[in-house]
Amino acid sequence: MTTTKLKRVGILTGGGDCPGLNAVIRSIAKPAMSFFGATVIGIEDGFEGLVEGRARELTPKDIGGIVNLGGTILGTSNKGNPFKFPVETPQGVEIFDYSDNAIRNYKDWELDALIAIGGDGTMHIVDRFTDLGLNFIGVPKTIDNDLAATDVTFGYDSAVSVATEAIDRLHTTASSHHRVMVIEVMGRYAGWIALGSGLAGGADVILIPEIPFRWERVHEHVLRRSKHGSRFSIVCVAEGARPAEGDLVVKETDAKRTDPIRLGGVGEYVGKQIQEGTGLETRVAVLGHVQRGGSPTPYDRILATKFGSMALEIASQGKFGHMVSLKGNEVVAVPVKEAILKLRTVPPDSQLILAARAVGTCFGD
Ligand code: F6P
Repeated sequence: MTTTKLKRVGILTGGGDCPGLNAVIRSIAKPAMSFFGATVIGIEDGFEGLVEGRARELTPKDIGGIVNLGGTILGTSNKGNPFKFPVETPQGVEIFDYSDNAIRNYKDWELDALIAIGGDGTMHIVDRFTDLGLNFIGVPKTIDNDLAATDVTFGYDSAVSVATEAIDRLHTTASSHHRVMVIEVMGRYAGWIALGSGLAGGADVILIPEIPFRWERVHEHVLRRSKHGSRFSIVCVAEGARPAEGDLVVKETDAKRTDPIRLGGVGEYVGKQIQEGTGLETRVAVLGHVQRGGSPTPYDRILATKFGSMALEIASQGKFGHMVSLKGNEVVAVPVKEAILKLRTVPPDSQLILAARAVGTCFGD
């Protein structure tokens, strides 16, 4: 096995923030300092900092007391893809390849390894830099839980826990007023958060991107409940859900983002259609970034700590171009190329879907 001397280790967090990022940073930096005697360089604001040369040396004080802290002490950005770097010009936003700047900074900082913690977009960038000969390791994060090659990403459990508590709270007001309550949660192309929190919170209807829905099915279900069952319904909808004959509801597009589409608004759309289609009084709650902020759950702190320490371990073994991944109960290393082949979406025949259907949940199909 190759071993790599780890004298200088870089860490960056890319893409949207996510509970557990600081726990990963801590579990890379602590053993890097104590076991390897390495200098740890924290790159600021993700790949933007790598391109622009913004980084600082992390001290033991920086990484103390952060295991329970949400967000990321390094800052992050979903706009700094070095291969497609957005620059404001008088003509508008123009895209340039600034990967040379990133490589120059990596070399100037004399990094032996750079551990990038991020989602799908980050792993694509890790893969490209690996092909260019840089010593990159990936750590998968996203509340959406949609990265292939790992059973779960840290951050997902925290998001589901916040969304479930929100659904519990909506239940009491929905039942008191005999209303339909729609809750919009995150989940761009995968419905894991809506499915997890909808199931845990006992939502009556769950709408996810993987199962395009029909309005008549949704209307029938809430009407049936209103007439023959409880006089209220909870509808949990992922931001990326869409009707069988309809499109994604896009809030805005922003050319600077790694993924230019910003979703949002499907909750309002679903609420309006239900009220008009059934005559039942309907209210809408959009959970938004509340589900991404705040402290990680114990599960996410533990997973993040396992991921971070394993990332450093595989860096010391010279396994560059790999991402740490949870397989069953074990954290292992998988090639990043495997992780970016496709997104991990909800299989419509998965046990979770079948269990939800067994307890009467409607998916609108
Ligand atoms: O990818 C994670 C995610 O939380 C998505 O579910 C959501 O669409 C997106 O981030 C929101 O990103 P932003 O914070 O840039 O609006």
